[in-house]
Amino acid sequence: MSKISPTVLQNYVAEGDQANLFSTVDFGELTMLTRPPIFIPRAETAYIMDHLADILLEHPVMSTLERPLRILDLCTGSGSLALMLAHRLRSKAHLTAVDINPEAVTLARENAALNGLTSHVDFVVQDFTTSDLGEASFDLVVSNPPYIPHGEWETLSPSVKDHEDPRALIGDPQDFPAQSREHPISESSDGQGLYFYRKIAQKLPLFCKSSILRQSRGLPLLAVECGATQADDVQHIFKTQTSGLISSTTVVKDQFGQDRMVIGLT
Ligand SMILES: C[S@@+](CC[C@H](N)C(=O)[O-])C[C@H]1O[C@@H](n2cnc3c(N)ncnc32)[C@H](O)[C@@H]1O
Repeated sequence: MSKISPTVLQNYVAEGDQANLFSTVDFGELTMLTRPPIFIPRAETAYIMDHLADILLEHPVMSTLERPLRILDLCTGSGSLALMLAHRLRSKAHLTAVDINPEAVTLARENAALNGLTSHVDFVVQDFTTSDLGEASFDLVVSNPPYIPHGEWETLSPSVKDHEDPRALIGDPQDFPAQSREHPISESSDGQGLYFYRKIAQKLPLFCKSSILRQSRGLPLLAVECGATQADDVQHIFKTQTSGLISSTTVVKDQFGQDRMVIGLT
């Protein structure tokens, strides 16, 4: 293999996109394969999922469970959230990871194998917004859905726009740049990138109908990554659109001090 000159390496790193030069990225303690146009897992996501794993592992309820926690990862992409939680929780959890894109699910399966986690995760190709996903089977839902507001697409760096699927990024469906830019924002979108949070909140009572975490107050039932300015809106959605399932919320910062994860508690 020819040697890469330090200048080329620096240029790629300066664009903040090491993953386009190498075909793997570090994701906390995991190594993740990447393949365009599948969304490349971010360091911030690894950080907040690690934090969520700490919260779960430190909670007294974990030692009383008679079976593994059933966790649903919606919009799994390369499998990052599911695999991080499977890695940290091991036999204490079983993950179901869902993505609408079959190529993403193929990559996620490869990542599970690469990290020795295949037996801890089931993968499903589904549009979660129109599926019941074996309703009532989950204890906890996690997600890093598309959340970039439609209007911010043009401001993203070329390393993101040129290599990642707009459908993995834009949180206002039907407004993907690959389609007509003239297309109006859909009825359920508001141009704020919050469409998927609403869908997740509205489907939570279905997915978590029999959650064992519902038996006590103050336990996490839903944890999502969000954009740095979206945490207030996401908290409001959780409190008003989950049919009363979420009583309170908490916001977790990433390693750069940005509001990055909203956790909905029973
Ligand atoms: C921002 S990427 C996040 C990927 C991964 N969770 C991560 O953090 O690395 C969003 C993912 O949502 C998937 N997606 C978009 N709409 C979906 C839907 N209706 N149902 C399931 N997955 C969807 C996309 O294919 C993409 O892989």
